Amino acid sequence: MKLTSRSVSRAVLVSTMVTATAAASVLVASPASAATTLGASAAQSGRYFGTAVAAGKLGDSTYVNILNREFDMVTAENEMKMDATEPNPGQFSYGNADRIVNHARNQGKRVRGHALAWHQQQPGWMQNMSGSALRQAMLNHVTQVATYYRGKIHSWDVVNEAFADGNSGGRRDSNLQRTGNDWIEAAFRAARAADPGAKLCYNDYNTDNWSHAKTQGVYRMVQDFKSRGVPIDCVGFQAHFNSGNPVPNNYHTTLQNFANLGVDVQITELDIAGSGSSQADQFKGVTQACLAVSRCNGITVWGIRDSDSWRASDTPLLFDRNGNKKAAYNSVLAQLNS
Ligand code: G3I
Repeated sequence: MKLTSRSVSRAVLVSTMVTATAAASVLVASPASAATTLGASAAQSGRYFGTAVAAGKLGDSTYVNILNREFDMVTAENEMKMDATEPNPGQFSYGNADRIVNHARNQGKRVRGHALAWHQQQPGWMQNMSGSALRQAMLNHVTQVATYYRGKIHSWDVVNEAFADGNSGGRRDSNLQRTGNDWIEAAFRAARAADPGAKLCYNDYNTDNWSHAKTQGVYRMVQDFKSRGVPIDCVGFQAHFNSGNPVPNNYHTTLQNFANLGVDVQITELDIAGSGSSQADQFKGVTQACLAVSRCNGITVWGIRDSDSWRASDTPLLFDRNGNKKAAYNSVLAQLNS
């Protein structure tokens, strides 16, 4: 077609009209298209919304219906821990973990791996070990489990809860810590070699308040790892809140400062004791803090119904014991859609 000045201006006019029409349809469509589940709402900003899942509950239809409908990321609550996956030295057991991983993947959901190395929930044989034998057993565990699940895990909690509570800002004493201060970076290197595609996270609790010594201690470790090329990709903030440990006002600052080190941040085990509007407001604050940090990949709540929680009497989750949505659910969903 020969382009005259008239045909060019007509083409410009038509394309402008198309653009304007498209823009108008986006404007009209967006309120009606607000997503109606946690996972779909989080996905609008490229994030995930996950939950901890217990293999023993996969036969409970209320539980499974909510899981399938609402969440797009799954963490095994106990089934991928060291005691579950290596009950005897060198003998690995993946039955319950596989039930969760397969359910998630069959439903198109992704999986957070929890946890490769931890001072708790070690199998009895490991609890009795020390020194280089323990170091070797830990590294073998990391390598075997991360290799078995290679390509299926979005993010691994490589090391869980290695820092001390209180004001020291230092490491927690444990059999693993006594194998030498470099046990954490050794675990991360082994995990990277075994599953190069997974994000590798350090995960801990009471690291939400920027001014707390424990938060600062973890921050310094991540800063050190990044400066020395230790393969760490993300930091998990468990976020178990209650009246003694409320959502801090500086939560956004904490998440942003860690992200500024060049790692992703993830809220990994969120639950907040309480009820009604006060609980809903705190869930809203946590959701807002994550949404305000571009490297906050997603939020995982530590269970589905209050009755599924490790601290059920605190009613800390988004669904009541009957599977009904709570005020906290509505406030999280509204934030994700805002
Ligand atoms: O399955 C057995 C059951 O057969 C037995 O009869 C019963 C008797 O005690 O125990 C059951 O196992 C329990 C398991 O939860 C499943 O319910 C364990 O005793 C109990 O210790 C275990 O607790 C788990 C806890 O981690 C262990 O440290 C919780 O479910 C789990 O929610 C909790 O999760 C941790 C994260 O991994 C790390 N961050 C903190 C978070 C909350 O504590």
